[in-house]
Amino acid sequence: MARLTAGVGSSHVPLLGVAVDQGKSGDDYFGPIFAGYEWTRAWEKAEKPDVIVLVYNDHASAFDMKIVPTFAIGCGEHYKPADEGWGPRKVPDVEGHADLAWHIAQSLILDDFDMTIINEMDVDHGLTVPLSMMFGTPDKWPCKVVPLAVNVVTYPVPSGNRCWALGEAIARAVASFPEDLNVQIWGTGGMSHQLQGPRAGLLNREWDNKFLDLLESDSDDVRWIPHIEYLRETGSEGIEMVMWLIMRGALGDSVETLHRFYHVPASNTAVGHLVLQPTS
Ligand code: DHB
Ligand code: FE
Repeated sequence: MARLTAGVGSSHVPLLGVAVDQGKSGDDYFGPIFAGYEWTRAWEKAEKPDVIVLVYNDHASAFDMKIVPTFAIGCGEHYKPADEGWGPRKVPDVEGHADLAWHIAQSLILDDFDMTIINEMDVDHGLTVPLSMMFGTPDKWPCKVVPLAVNVVTYPVPSGNRCWALGEAIARAVASFPEDLNVQIWGTGGMSHQLQGPRAGLLNREWDNKFLDLLESDSDDVRWIPHIEYLRETGSEGIEMVMWLIMRGALGDSVETLHRFYHVPASNTAVGHLVLQPTS
């Protein structure tokens, strides 16, 4: 059967993709940020996951205000990097795992999560930047990806509790897939950031680290944080952090932390990164 072996949380700052693409990841500004992912790059090489269920948000690249799915799952065979205004990133196409994705879609929908099914879309920095952070610059991504897109762009966005419960349902779906696959779940986005308005540039180290502490703990208190707290404490774009709760909810009651990293600033945001293993 498929096994959910680990969870990874990571920010998806687009400027870090630019740094990779322009060969600047070792310079004075970016070097300390990429150093925080070195442990994970070596670990991923050893772990060799077959598939990543990659929870991310689209930033008006594949979707726009015409269509805003709350939860959507990519059931296609492949996805191209999106053109976000400067041409598509020159990173490999993302290979899907259609059989696993359709299985997860069916399991989630019969588990009362009304997923939108996507067969064709381009994937933006929300998905490709975490791949670059974890795998560097290969000719081909080393594993398949099931994209799971969450609306955190326009309200109403899903609650933390609903995200956690979706993670639990994803774990049930993966565990019932008959093929022997090493599956990881990644939660991306965050941490504190606000990109516009009078509070643009807002960062909150203390709150971000409290959030990371809660994810590492065996309690599920973090699922009850209301939207207004993310908004007040972490800025308008800090709500991206609810996507980490899908990852954490999938890992079960208790987890071990393999790696944790936090750095401010990167572009307009704080970079957070966590590698967790289920222990129960
Ligand atoms: C930035 C961060 C994001 O999460 C994003 O989607 C776009 C921009 C930033 O910090 O610049
Ligand atoms: Fe974002």
